[in-house]
Amino acid sequence: MTAIPTIDLVDALASEYANQSPSEILALALNQEGEIAISFSGAEDVVLIDMASHLGKPFRVFSLDTGRLHPETYQFIETVRKHYNIDIEICFPESEAVQTLVKNKGLFSFFADGHQECCGIRKVQPLRKKLTTLDGWITGQRKDQSPGTRHEIPVVQADTSFSGEGKQLIKYNPLANWSSADVWNYIRMMEIPYNPLHEKGFISIGCEPCTRAVLPNQHEREGRWWWEEATHKECGLHAANIKK
Ligand code: ADX
Ligand code: SF4
Repeated sequence: MTAIPTIDLVDALASEYANQSPSEILALALNQEGEIAISFSGAEDVVLIDMASHLGKPFRVFSLDTGRLHPETYQFIETVRKHYNIDIEICFPESEAVQTLVKNKGLFSFFADGHQECCGIRKVQPLRKKLTTLDGWITGQRKDQSPGTRHEIPVVQADTSFSGEGKQLIKYNPLANWSSADVWNYIRMMEIPYNPLHEKGFISIGCEPCTRAVLPNQHEREGRWWWEEATHKECGLHAANIKK
């Protein structure tokens, strides 16, 4: 086990691991002292779970169930749970907050006034709550997922958005330098389960009302919140990616 890196050590670690493989970065994360968990969206970030299962170290996985995922995604999360024989810690939003939003604005308010409010309630607040119980989290973010917001993400960083008072939260992005092609080569080569929506033209997968399939050569991010301006396409889970 290695100690939780202090803020000045995180940048040094990011440089040291910048060219290491995802599996080595994942091993670094899983070796860190304290509570660490993989944040699994139910899409191609399943490769993190597969890699972790091969490392032979204990690992935790959590998923944010917004209540608006595709049926295929719910089924896939269950497939992954059984395939790897793991617990998946499902995080739900606060029911009062969802009820108030839906009562006041209906079920599709995001089409009228943007996704931030609904994402705030259904994703960000439950994530914040989960992260207060953790010392580090592991995401499937990649630079190539969003030229506008993710092109600079390091393989390890201090999480400036979710660190609590007196507690430094570390965020690991083992797939940062992998391309979509690398991820899919891995999925096919290792014959691991994937979300069946990928067979229907979906690349990036989020909530059902806010995700759509993309056309050949359209960027994957264009399938997310397509009615909004591209530079703001972060839901708040990775808000630090948006430059002020
Ligand atoms: S999002 O912020 O736009 O929704 P994206 O779908 O690109 O994120 O996924 C990037 C990473 O964020 C995933 O690999 C995962 O680590 C985390 N993530 C996204 N959605 C969820 C979710 N519903 N539950 C858990 N983690 C998630
Ligand atoms: Fe709500 Fe859409 Fe955000 Fe899901 S992606 S939490 S449905 S606004």
